[in-house]
Amino acid sequence: MCGIVGYIGPRPMGEILLPGLARLEYRGYDSAGLALHQGDKLTVSKRAGRIADLAEQLADLDTGGHLGIGHTRWATHGAPNGTNAHPHTDCTGDVAAVHNGIIENWAELKRELIGRGHEFTSDTDTEVVGHLIEEMADVPLDEAVRRVMQSAQGALALAVIRRSDPEMIVAARRHSPLVVGRGEGEMFVASDIPAFLEHTRNMIVIDDDRVVAITADGATITNLEGEEIPAVERTIEWDLDAAEKGGYESFMLKEIHEQPQAIADTLRGRIDESGRVRLHELELDDRLLRAIDKVFVIACGTSYHAAMMAKYAIERWTRIPVEIDIASEFRYRDPVVDPRTLVIGISQSGETLDTLAAVRYAAAQGATLLGVTNVVDSALARESDAVLYTRAGPEIGVAATKTFTTQLVAMQLLGLYLAQVRASMDPGAIEYHIRQLNELPVAVSQVVGSSDEIKKMTERWADVRDFFFLGRSGDFPVAMEGALKLKEIAYVRAEGFAAGEMKHGPIALIEDGVVVIGVATDTHVKAKTLSNMAEMAARGGEMVILREEGDDGTDFADHVITLPEGPDLICTVTAVVPLQLLAYHVANAKGLDVDKPRNLAKTVTVE
Ligand code: AGP
Repeated sequence: MCGIVGYIGPRPMGEILLPGLARLEYRGYDSAGLALHQGDKLTVSKRAGRIADLAEQLADLDTGGHLGIGHTRWATHGAPNGTNAHPHTDCTGDVAAVHNGIIENWAELKRELIGRGHEFTSDTDTEVVGHLIEEMADVPLDEAVRRVMQSAQGALALAVIRRSDPEMIVAARRHSPLVVGRGEGEMFVASDIPAFLEHTRNMIVIDDDRVVAITADGATITNLEGEEIPAVERTIEWDLDAAEKGGYESFMLKEIHEQPQAIADTLRGRIDESGRVRLHELELDDRLLRAIDKVFVIACGTSYHAAMMAKYAIERWTRIPVEIDIASEFRYRDPVVDPRTLVIGISQSGETLDTLAAVRYAAAQGATLLGVTNVVDSALARESDAVLYTRAGPEIGVAATKTFTTQLVAMQLLGLYLAQVRASMDPGAIEYHIRQLNELPVAVSQVVGSSDEIKKMTERWADVRDFFFLGRSGDFPVAMEGALKLKEIAYVRAEGFAAGEMKHGPIALIEDGVVVIGVATDTHVKAKTLSNMAEMAARGGEMVILREEGDDGTDFADHVITLPEGPDLICTVTAVVPLQLLAYHVANAKGLDVDKPRNLAKTVTVE
């Protein structure tokens, strides 16, 4: 997720683009840049770091002119450095483009362009845009962008300027957001409203597969065939804070609602036309993957719950023994690691010191290291032999939400990929699970829509001090994550437990006033979970059951949360969402700051 901004009008670029980008830093902040049309040339300034660093670099430069575009980056392709920062230009420097999204066929387009003599300077997918437009120097810029949109596959929100078009910005959108702001004698284009809200409240939303030609006098929208589409203008009622949160009360709630898109982005380009998983980005030799005879999955906190789910997935689909370890424990138990061991470190930040220390220890024992992280070029990414990125975009809320569900999806993609390479799973079963993964964004959207129902259920729990979250098999990691969410944002004592374990002691704690939340979706064991829950209902606990549509046997429950029907491990993902919302609403009802919970940091860089 990145932020793009464009402006055309009488005011100096520096006064508009830099503040506009600063308002979009929640979308990405590893590098930034501007391209300004300054009469006879385009001036491009960009660097690694935040907007403030770019502003410092520009302090002594002329940021005048009346046409420009800018970008603040969250790297998905290519390290977060000055070379890969946007804008990207063509060979001549006469075309500049900024992009938010993922061009899935960028490698093929780049090979073809290099074959036609183009020279590239970055490792990004975006750079192909300028070179494609360079080849259409005699084509009107809006038509050139339409042709780019026809040849590029994937998610694109673009803004493009060209030296020979001093009065026009052309923008385009597919899957990634784009809005146009209309001022008096000036126009704005951006990924999101906060970029220009202080200048105008007149907004034109751009739909998918639309190209918009923007001059100081207005915007002309066309489809990819060049047919004009009427612009629908709205007035923005939000204040700036609300706009940065997309109208949600908090970044956490916004990020919970972003999960369908984050999951779709994590899947994008990783499943080929024949329905097989394609993880060439791992660059791990198939022979090595076939020779692996043990896997460790190591992580902390929420990421450890993803490791728990990964164990079920990888063992079930590949029959490779998988051990999971809390990172801070791993290296003190003298684990058995050797060159045929694959060690997977999961860390959304890629900077958690416990996890880094553990994987460094394993690598020193000769293991192959695979990092699963949300941050390109993070320490974990840099130190791993291979990296599988989640594509959740920046997560501002301290409590992990979208980064967790995208970890679950990434680990299932990895498990299926290993099963493909090792031929350890029926191809039909692989294709079936992949089809279900492709349906996951829709399923998660349905569950996210149940927020009001969850809120109503939690209204009576403001004073409840004891929660148990229970599950078996694939539901067990979900229960653990639900308990952690409630602890960390609502400051309520909550325990995650294997449902079958309650009868071995903890059931003594069940009495009136204790809330027990049971996750019962895993086909193999959900009946047992329900019978464990019925035992506790008889002892006075308030029972909440998460179950799939069509399931029954929950008459004893005080509340039932129904999930879309789906195969095991798919429901593991959808079942997380109600528990995120449950914790959110309990915390919100207590008036707590869900984005910045007490005592916690987003990244724990101490041991
Ligand atoms: C998640 O809600 C917590 N804030 C915390 O447990 C977190 O998952 C843990 O610190 C690991 O972080 P990482 O994924 O960045 O390594």
